[in-house]
Order: sequence, then structure tokens, then C-alpha cells
Amino acid sequence: MSGDTSLLHLDGIPPDMLTKVETYLEPFRLSLDKLQEVSARLEKELIRGLGKHTHHRASVKMLPTFVRATPDGTEKGDFLALDLGGTNFRVLHVRVVEEEQKMLKVDSEICAIPQEIMQGTGEQLFNHIATCLSEFLDSQNLKGQTLPLGFTFSFPCEQKEIDKSILIRWTKGFKCSGVEGKDVVKLLKEAIQRRGDYEIGSVAMVNDTVGTMMSCGYRDQSCEIGMIIGTGTNACYMEEMKNVKRVEGEDGQMCINTEWGGFGDDGSLKDILTGFDSVVDEKSINPGVHIFEKMISGMYLGEIVRLVLVRLTEDKLLFNGQTSEALLTQGKFETRFISEIEHQDSGLENTQRILTSLGLDWNEVDARVVLLVCDTISSRSARLCAAALATIANRIRVNRGLDHLKTTVGVDGTVYKKHPNFSEELQAAVRLLAPECDITFLVSEDGSGKGAAMVTAVAQRLALQSRL
Ligand code: GLC
Repeated sequence: MSGDTSLLHLDGIPPDMLTKVETYLEPFRLSLDKLQEVSARLEKELIRGLGKHTHHRASVKMLPTFVRATPDGTEKGDFLALDLGGTNFRVLHVRVVEEEQKMLKVDSEICAIPQEIMQGTGEQLFNHIATCLSEFLDSQNLKGQTLPLGFTFSFPCEQKEIDKSILIRWTKGFKCSGVEGKDVVKLLKEAIQRRGDYEIGSVAMVNDTVGTMMSCGYRDQSCEIGMIIGTGTNACYMEEMKNVKRVEGEDGQMCINTEWGGFGDDGSLKDILTGFDSVVDEKSINPGVHIFEKMISGMYLGEIVRLVLVRLTEDKLLFNGQTSEALLTQGKFETRFISEIEHQDSGLENTQRILTSLGLDWNEVDARVVLLVCDTISSRSARLCAAALATIANRIRVNRGLDHLKTTVGVDGTVYKKHPNFSEELQAAVRLLAPECDITFLVSEDGSGKGAAMVTAVAQRLALQSRL
């Protein structure tokens, strides 16, 4: 990303070549003014998504989550958690210990979801999930117990209650038939009943952003935003109930799953989309859906870089004009390569190894151009996220009538965690875009899984309190 190191690398690129390369990269460079404009546009979308009569048409869905309280530190108990929608599918056994204010992961297991199941039928998917859970319960000797279950399901859902959650549409790499428009809790319970070898207790449905906010909320009670920058990107935050027009009641707060990945689906980001972004969208399994996400998240960043590299090669600005089969293949330039290439110490070495593995004949100037491309694309991603986060933080501040807001964001996701300076660039841009907000970033460990257990625990605490 921009900074001293990339300047150092630019020194190695001949000026006339750099000028030509820049003509392709310039559209990815978003000025602070532009980011402010994007932030203002998003603010309007948030309001549209919250409105009773406007939310149907809103591209940023602003989904009520029925999570009305963050943890207060008195939660406790044993829980199961499922986590579907990120890099892996996971099953967890979580223990919340009140005295230590700790959430302990007793054990967990990763269960692969093969591509044919990700894009097969819903019944296959839920059977697979129920089987993984069964095997996990066996290994933990838990089959006789009926534990409450938190289900982190990281897709846009219209939630009716904490345990009724209708999938609006698949995003990222999933596309199972017969699930959109259905209640995911019901599909899970039916699959478990079909097996008949174990039972589960009450279910709480959670988006990964909510899980992340809740798991950080146990450590820091001022955590009221959850953000994911991983395979997909999204954020949730605590909104005043009086602004959530779709849900009865004026008092208190409710967590809103913004689904900010859908920003731009109505064409509102056309001015900042590049031709490369349009190709990524057209070639994806869900064209026209989640345009903002496709400029930012791990599922797409590598592909944007690949398309730029192909174009530069065709224009003889790279690899002596010679592409390779791998470079011409969709998905072959993985997002993790960007982090490896931008690594401060081993970056150049990594670049050379990656280019060789892609069958490319490179020289040192090529390696520097590739670094410049990666830096530009990841930097745009970080700055766009910053603009969106600034919008949310400012909204919370204005909601509370404050001149200055101090708040905490729980963050998770491979892009944020693995990229060498994504978080720095994001935080620096947020400081410029939301100067009245003082934001602490808390990286969540195992957040989406543990957070689902926490949501279940908070729901139990509230139910108990209301009975007293
Ligand atoms: C996608 C999903 C959203 C999720 C995000 C991060 O944008 O639609 O629900 O939170 O990915 O995993």
C-alpha cells in the first residue's frame, strides 16, 4: 500500500512505462473527496434501508437482527455453534464462564464443504451440516444432551425472530437450490430430524458481523459495531429502535445487519467502477449482486489483480507481452498472493515465486509493476471499507446527539487479518473521514462462532430476566 516502501519500488520502473501503467491504475485511486461522496451516498442508502416504505427497494438491506442487547458480562452456560459462510464450515462447543468473563472454545472442528454441495441442492447442504454436527457430538460425547445452538449463517436473511430467518439470497460462493425464501432454522431442524440420532435446544440465528460484535462485546462493552473483511464484506451496528421502522417498538436499540456488500446494486457506484470490476461481476455466479463487496472482499480481489495483469501484458507492459495459461484462468491469482506480494520483508521474493508458479517469465521490473498493481487494488479496498465504516460511526454519533463518539469495532476476516497493512490504511482513512469519532479496533478471535454462542447466551439471560 502507499507509503515509503512502495515509493522505493516505483524507483525501479522506467518513467515512461510507469506513466502507461498508471493510466490503467488511475481509476482505482479514490481521492478523499470521492470517498466522502461515497460515504454520503451510503448514508442515504442506510436511511432508505431502514424506512418502512423504502426498504423493499433498498440495495443496502439494513436487516433487523432481533439482537437487542450486547453482553453485560453475566452470561453463562454451554452452547453449540455452527459457522457457515466464510472460508470454512465449523462446528464448535463453547463454554461461557461468568466469573472469568470468558468465552472458552471447548473444542471445534472444521468440516469441508465441497464445491458440488455449495452449488447443489439445499437438502444436500443441510444434510451435510447435520452429519458434521452429529460426528462432532459423537467425538465430544455430547449426544445425550440438548444444548442450545447458535447458528452463524453469513448471508442476507430477513429475520422474523431470533430463531426464524429467511434467506433473501445467496452471496459469495454459495448457490444451493431451494433455500432462498425459506426459513433456514426450519431447514436445519428438518435435516436433524431426518437423521433422528440427536436433538438440539433453542436456536439463535446470527450473521457473522453480529457474532463478531457480540464476541468482542464480551471483552469490551463499548463494542457496538461488527465488521467483516474476508471472503465477503459486511458490517452491523446498534441502531436506535425508533429508527428501525420495520419493527414495532420505539425504545432501546437493535443490532442492524447492514449487508453493505449490496451497496451499488442499483447502479449508484457506476462512477467509481472500472471496466475490470464489471468483468469480475459479469463472470461471477451472481452478476449484478453485491457490487460493493466485489470491489473489496477476498473472494474477488485476486481476480481484479489478475485481470489488470492480463491487460498490462497484452499491452506489452509486463512479461514481455507473454501471458500464461494460469494467468488467463479465472481464479488462478489468489487473493492471498496479494498479501504475500505486499509483505514488507519477503515481498519481492514472494512475487518472484508466485510469478514463476503461474508459468510467467518475469524480470525485476515486472515484479515491481505487479507489486504496484496489488498495492493499488488492496488500497482501494481498504479505503472503500473506511468510507463505509466512517458512515456508520458518524451515524451512531449523530443518533446520540454527540459531538464526539468513542466506540469500538469488532473486526474479523482474512483480508483484514492477513494483509500486511490493510488495517493501517483502513484506520488512517477512517480517521480522516470521521474525525469526530475515536474508534478502537478489536480483532476478534473465533468471533463468528463464539459470538453465535454469545447471542444465544444473551437471549437466555433476557428471557430469564423477563420471567423474574
Ligand atoms: C456477504 C454476506 C453477509 C456476510 C458477509 C461477510 O456479504 O451477504 O451476510 O456478513 O458476506 O461474510
